[in-house]
Amino acid sequence: MNNDLSKSKMDAFLSNIPLLHSWDNGQTRNTGGFHRIHFRVIASVLLHHFSDARLRILETGAGNSTIFFCLQEPIKLTTIAHPNDSVIDRIREYCSKNDIDLSCLEYHSQISELMLPQLILDKEFGEVDVILIDGGHGWPTVFVDFFYCNYILKQNGLLLIDDIQLYSVKELVRFLNELPDWQVLAKMDKLWIFEKLSSDNILSGNIADLPYLDRKAKDSLATKSQWQI
Ligand SMILES: C[S@@+](CC[C@H](N)C(=O)[O-])C[C@H]1O[C@@H](n2cnc3c(N)ncnc32)[C@H](O)[C@@H]1O
Repeated sequence: MNNDLSKSKMDAFLSNIPLLHSWDNGQTRNTGGFHRIHFRVIASVLLHHFSDARLRILETGAGNSTIFFCLQEPIKLTTIAHPNDSVIDRIREYCSKNDIDLSCLEYHSQISELMLPQLILDKEFGEVDVILIDGGHGWPTVFVDFFYCNYILKQNGLLLIDDIQLYSVKELVRFLNELPDWQVLAKMDKLWIFEKLSSDNILSGNIADLPYLDRKAKDSLATKSQWQI
């Protein structure tokens, strides 16, 4: 962030995070789950890891993270959000009222599991420095997102995974936590931040290289379920 004006816009945003989301067809509104402390920690990790470099950022799911990332003044922010989600209208409204520049934003109204492979095949797209996975939280969507995000994330880039209180997301975090190529940089109540140490963009399919899977396989053999699979 380059100047006092940008800092004051960030402070104003963090002091009063807008209620962009609704989970009950508009009856009530909420922030989407990020509080000031989450954004403060993300900002501090980004600054520590990249200094003041301008970044290429990608996120699945749109909302206050979109505004926050735009306030970081990235080279480009690629946001992929569900086509049924009208949150982009409220993001634009907030940014227009608060004079926040959205020219860095490339917005795709598409489910991430379909959009991410298209970006990978687009030779112009290239790698990104930071990814936030915070779109579809179902199973196996978070793993599908991770698979493609690993392809797009550059070596030493950061992967932010939000909503780890949800089982599907937590299992992804457990899986990464046991891979030597992923180093945990920050752990919060609902958000973990990993650094990708490897330059590989295709995950090894070898079970022996995946301690999480090896352990799960042994657990499964030790406690044969009623299904006997
Ligand atoms: C927890 S909210 C987003 C949070 C956002 N990062 C924020 O800071 O507010 C998750 C969003 O992901 C969107 N979403 C759900 N499934 C998706 C999918 N498969 N692809 C992309 N976006 C999805 C939802 O519409 C929802 O708005």
